[in-house]
Parts: sequence; C-alpha cells; structure tokens
Amino acid sequence: MNFNERDVAFAGKLIRDGELVGFPTETVYGLGANALDTDAVKKTYAAKGRPIDNPLIVHIYDKSQIAEIASEINDFAVKVIKSVMPAPITIVLPKRDAISGVITAGLPSVAIRMPQSEEARRFLRAAGVPVTAPSANISGRPSPTTWQRVREDMDGKIAAVLCGAPCMVGIESTVLDLSRETPIILRPGAVSAEFLTSLLGVPVTVLNNPTSKVNSPGIRYKHYAPNVPMVLELDDNVEKLCDFYDLKVREGYNPVLWVKETARFGNRNLCEMGNDDASAAAALYETMRTLEKQYDFIVASFCWRKGSSYDGAESQGVLDRLMRACAHNVI
Ligand code: TXA
Ligand code: MG
Repeated sequence: MNFNERDVAFAGKLIRDGELVGFPTETVYGLGANALDTDAVKKTYAAKGRPIDNPLIVHIYDKSQIAEIASEINDFAVKVIKSVMPAPITIVLPKRDAISGVITAGLPSVAIRMPQSEEARRFLRAAGVPVTAPSANISGRPSPTTWQRVREDMDGKIAAVLCGAPCMVGIESTVLDLSRETPIILRPGAVSAEFLTSLLGVPVTVLNNPTSKVNSPGIRYKHYAPNVPMVLELDDNVEKLCDFYDLKVREGYNPVLWVKETARFGNRNLCEMGNDDASAAAALYETMRTLEKQYDFIVASFCWRKGSSYDGAESQGVLDRLMRACAHNVI
C-alpha cells in the first residue's frame, strides 16, 4: 500500500479488524497488530516464528494512552515521557490488567513506545488503538529498514505493508526498563546511556554491556544475523583483517571486508561501514541483507574508541547488533 491518506486509513481499519500490517518507523519497520485483540497479537508470533517468551512493544500516538497501559508511572518515567518521547526509545513500566500476558510474555511489566516518525504516528492514529509491533522480520533475521525487506520476509503472511520511507535511525529503539528501582537499558539504541544518565541524574547503564569484550560463545546470543558466517574485529587492525580475509579465501570462501576506510585494504572485496556510528546504524541491516546475497563470509570491523567518529549516540547500539550478528565471534 502507498503512504497516502486513503491507504493509511485502510491500514488502520485492517488493524482494528484483527489483521497484521507492516509499517515504517524511524528505527525499523514494525509488524503491527491490535494490542487489545489477543488473537491478532498471537498471529504476530506465528508470522515471525517468534518464541512466545519474547514480549512485544505496545506503540502509541498520544502520551495520554500511557495511563491506559501502565499501572504506575514513576518520576523517572514522567521525565522521559515529558522530555524525550516521541523518540527512538521504549520504556518498560508495570502493566495494567487490561494488557494481555500474550503481549508481555507473562511478565508484570509492559514495553511502551511512541515513535518519532510522522509516518508511524499517522498510521497509529488511523488505527486508533494501541498497536503491538515487533520488527517486521522473520525471527533471528536482520530487521527490515525498507518496505521491500518487509515484503521479502512477510509476503503472504500478513494483510498489508505500508510503503513509507526508509528508516532514518536503522537500529531498534533503546529499551529502558523503568519498572525496577534503578533504571537500566535492556537494549541500546539511538537514545544513549550517557544522555539518559544526565537526564535522570542517576547512572544509567546497559545490561550485559557487549563492549566488555567477553567472547561469550554460543548460539544463545545469535540474533539479527545474516545467513552467512560473520566475524567481528574491534581494533581497526588492518593486518589482522587482511590475514583473516586471505585465510578465508584460501579455505575457498568468497569473503567481504565490511570496514570504515576501504582504501587501506587493497584489491579485496570491500563494503563501507559508514563514516560515523549514525551512518553505520542507518545502513547496518540493509547492508547485512545485501552482503549475504553477494558473499559467503562477512568480516566486519567496528572500532569504538573514545574521541573517534564511532563514539556518538548510536555506537553502543551498533556494536550490540554486530556482536549478535556474529554470535560473539570476535577475531
Ligand atoms: O524500534 C523498535 O523498538 C521496533 C519498532 C518496530 O518500534 N520494535 C522492536 O520490537 O524492535 P522487537 O519485538 O523486535 O523488540 C522488542 C524488545 C525485545 O528485546 C523484548 O524482549 C523487549 O523489547 N521487551 C518487550 N516487552 C518487555 C518487557 N515487558 N520487559 C522487558 N523487555 C521487554
Ligand atoms: Mg526484533
């Protein structure tokens, strides 16, 4: 469906009728369902092949909806709602009874997000109900940042996709848990820990910070992953990257180096990571989906050094997604 008034209104009706609709947001495309219709919400898990123990985010277009979803709004939440939202942030608060355990995976808390994207809010307003929306990808695949990628994963499984603009941010929202005594980031995104720390006046950190370089093995962490093997290098070590790439060539692979400054890598298969963390984030998932079609091994590099151009608000989010995409295989 095109992004015009008539189609947006129709998409809103589809939601009220219990159907699934793909729609644009500033982070990634979402797969919307009527949060007040448990059968509709259940369809989301089936379409994505998503484990039912992974809860969904409830999307709103007006801050007044929060009081109907959350049972308690503490001082931290008041601050975030007032001065940050709408933004690429999701807050977790204690839930009201009206919110089904199917949405929250049985948890007593609920995740709430008010997107910044004008297109997203037009769609949500047309729906007129709170809308659950995970990223509109098959579970485990890189999230879609264009409507074409939604179609790639969801064609035949959902009622419609609203064809809006490509997503500006490119990685999923920051998930900030405000249901505990101290705020904590469950998933880093474009609204940074540093920013939230200064706003809330208490240290806000990321749970299981992926930058701690613990080489956690295991498929448990694999998520947002391309369907070819991938490794990650974190020191911008040109020699190490070239050696690894050349080894893969000798093993018979057709690899690609996904790096910041391609000029330093000679005549190898190359792809640019982006000049700063914001542009790396914007292209991240789209690039994964492109590279997996052209090559059979991805050697990525992301060096997050203080003062470098990868030191901005999106840096933790990008690193988190890359770490998951390579299942923590750091070279
Ligand atoms: O940017 C985004 O947040 C996108 C767009 C579509 O808005 N949505 C998205 O949804 O990324 P999804 O389902 O792919 O990720 C939701 C995240 C998961 O990590 C989930 O575990 C967490 O939010 N979450 C949801 N409800 C929660 C809760 N009650 N407590 C803790 N975490 C929760
Ligand atoms: Mg997702």
